[in-house]
Amino acid sequence: MAQPGAERNSLGYLYMSGEYAPQRTTSPTGLDRKVGAAARLAADSAMGDQGPGLLLEAPGGDDGREMWRIARDTQVLDVNSPYSYLLWCRDFADSSVVVRDGDRVCGFITGYIRPRSAVTLFVWQVAVDQAYRGRGLAKRMLDYLGDRVVATGGRYLEATVTPDNIPSSRLFEGFARDRGCAVERHTLFTTEQFPRGHQPEVLFRIGPL
Ligand SMILES: CC(C)(COP(=O)(O)OP(=O)(O)OC[C@H]1O[C@@H](n2cnc3c(N)ncnc32)[C@H](O)[C@@H]1OP(=O)(O)O)[C@@H](O)C(=O)NCCC(=O)NCCS
Repeated sequence: MAQPGAERNSLGYLYMSGEYAPQRTTSPTGLDRKVGAAARLAADSAMGDQGPGLLLEAPGGDDGREMWRIARDTQVLDVNSPYSYLLWCRDFADSSVVVRDGDRVCGFITGYIRPRSAVTLFVWQVAVDQAYRGRGLAKRMLDYLGDRVVATGGRYLEATVTPDNIPSSRLFEGFARDRGCAVERHTLFTTEQFPRGHQPEVLFRIGPL
């Protein structure tokens, strides 16, 4: 018999009132996973004032148009052609993610599985609309893709960061830290390899996840 103050949640887990009950959240693959008290706290804190309407899912349909707009508005990302974002949503949706606030796309990550390393997801671009920054959204998108990598047998997540992009470095370092993963770094592309002035791109290889 349950102790006074103890309750069961929908999963049948016993917990004391006032504690965070283990919850099921739906991972990107539709695979359910259990989230304990600590992760629940982190998730709640990451939610901040995002409100309940935010939805993370694979991009599709016309999302490429909004992804292009968000990339352009960052004023720091290399903006690819609108066509490339549309094509991305068609062919690489499973390794990418968007965040929706109602009908509005407010953040995205484009990624692909490296043809020469099927266990590695390369994250190409991460962007969050200015009004939605600082609320843990980019981290949640990375977690979404990280969970997907693991669920599909992958082990590593890679991304490149320019040395002056502190928010981006923090994002990937925080992702690695929270998953207890190592981060290897080396310069992938030097300034000289670009056709015109461009900072070096430093590869972050995170894993095993
Ligand atoms: C980088 C970017 C995606 C971060 O989005 P975000 O939703 O605000 O990031 P989060 O709130 O999820 O924060 C993730 C981590 O980065 C840190 N961080 C985010 N913005 C930061 C900033 N301006 N300065 C320092 N740290 C920052 C957070 O503190 C957090 O670290 P923690 O895990 O240790 O707490 C967003 O600033 C952006 O779109 N920038 C322009 C595009 C860009 O530079 N993309 C990255 C290169 S592809």
